[in-house]
Amino acid sequence: MPKQGTLNVAMIGYGFMGRAHSNAFRQASAFFDTPFDLRLKVLCGRDEAKARTIADMWGWQEVVRHWESVVSRPDIDVVDICTPNYLHAPIATAAAQAGKIVLCEKPLASTVEDAERMVEAARGCKTLVWFNYRRVPAVRFAWELVQDGRLGDIYHYRGLYLQSWGRTPGDPAAWRFNPDHAGSGVMGDLLSHSLDLAQWLNGPIRRLCSNVRVFAERRQVDDAVSVLAEFANGSMGTFEATRFAMGNQNRNCFEINGSDGALEFNLEKMNHLQFNDLRQEPSLQGRRELLVTGPGHPYVDRFWPPGHVIGYEHTFIATLVDFLEALARGERFRPDFSDALEIQRLLDLVSQSSQRGCWLESAQLATVSAP
Ligand SMILES: NC(=O)c1ccc[n+]([C@@H]2O[C@H](COP(=O)([O-])OP(=O)(O)OC[C@H]3O[C@@H](n4cnc5c(N)ncnc54)[C@H](O)[C@@H]3O)[C@@H](O)[C@H]2O)c1
Repeated sequence: MPKQGTLNVAMIGYGFMGRAHSNAFRQASAFFDTPFDLRLKVLCGRDEAKARTIADMWGWQEVVRHWESVVSRPDIDVVDICTPNYLHAPIATAAAQAGKIVLCEKPLASTVEDAERMVEAARGCKTLVWFNYRRVPAVRFAWELVQDGRLGDIYHYRGLYLQSWGRTPGDPAAWRFNPDHAGSGVMGDLLSHSLDLAQWLNGPIRRLCSNVRVFAERRQVDDAVSVLAEFANGSMGTFEATRFAMGNQNRNCFEINGSDGALEFNLEKMNHLQFNDLRQEPSLQGRRELLVTGPGHPYVDRFWPPGHVIGYEHTFIATLVDFLEALARGERFRPDFSDALEIQRLLDLVSQSSQRGCWLESAQLATVSAP
């Protein structure tokens, strides 16, 4: 494919996500025939020496200390935000006002109000929110099976996001326990992913009832949350997200039970999808473990031959490639800021429901996301 040009990227923050995104920026054109080349132009971090080390490691050309000095520079096309949540809004707003393409980590913001301001500022800009689990090949394949009607009428959707480090937080994670920096605890961190997947796979949530808990003494953000939900398609939903599911490291799972089939996914075995095809004669029914590494599976033909499994980092590469292709076609990429605002509103509903001890209706039915 002839390239449509080169995009200069400025990335703000160089921690966990900074590394995942740097890798994606470098690898996208190596695996896929992307319509744009990407130049890793500026890395922004407050500690210049550390930022320089990371920049040299991943091939960033320049280092700056203050995000304000780079987001509106004329030689920058793309601003990528990998900072703690409270900085998403000011950085994204400034970048959008300067007309940049804005890529932002999830959750979109710390509050609904900030998220709304970001959507408003980015009207007319191309945006992406890194809900990267949509682009796990097995998850995308699950979506294709649902779209093809292979599950029939859906009865149940179950979303779990289980981690266990909440009892002994380390220094690198400190901002995640600061309500001013994180906005929320497990809700923004983990439940946001589960809700994004749920609405993408099973459509809008109509109403919900939740229970939010803090286990650690004096902690000011939520440690665990459970949610009962009802989807617009009539199916029942249950969600659990926690940093206190001792024994689980990063168990991001969903299960969908329909009249004609059932699916199960667990990120810790991300190359696999369990499919029970209830259209088969009863003697042949049962969970089948599909190895979603091709042939005929999304994304993977561009990585390695069938059976040669992929990893966490490939989800960011696939997300970025889809974004670049949408950009080249002049189409909207999903999930963008508007999609992520809907997740922010749902998180707010979860929080309110727990505080008030009642079911609450979602007002967002019309807008939930397609591919
Ligand atoms: N998509 C995912 O699966 C996923 C996974 C983890 C984290 N995240 C999200 O990514 C974001 C970052 O999380 P992380 O795990 O990379 O955190 P991290 O603590 O590893 O990194 C945060 C980075 O932000 C930098 N930073 C902080 N204040 C800054 C400032 N004023 N100017 C410039 N840089 C600043 C820090 O120096 C650090 O480099 C969060 O919004 C988080 O929710 C998403």
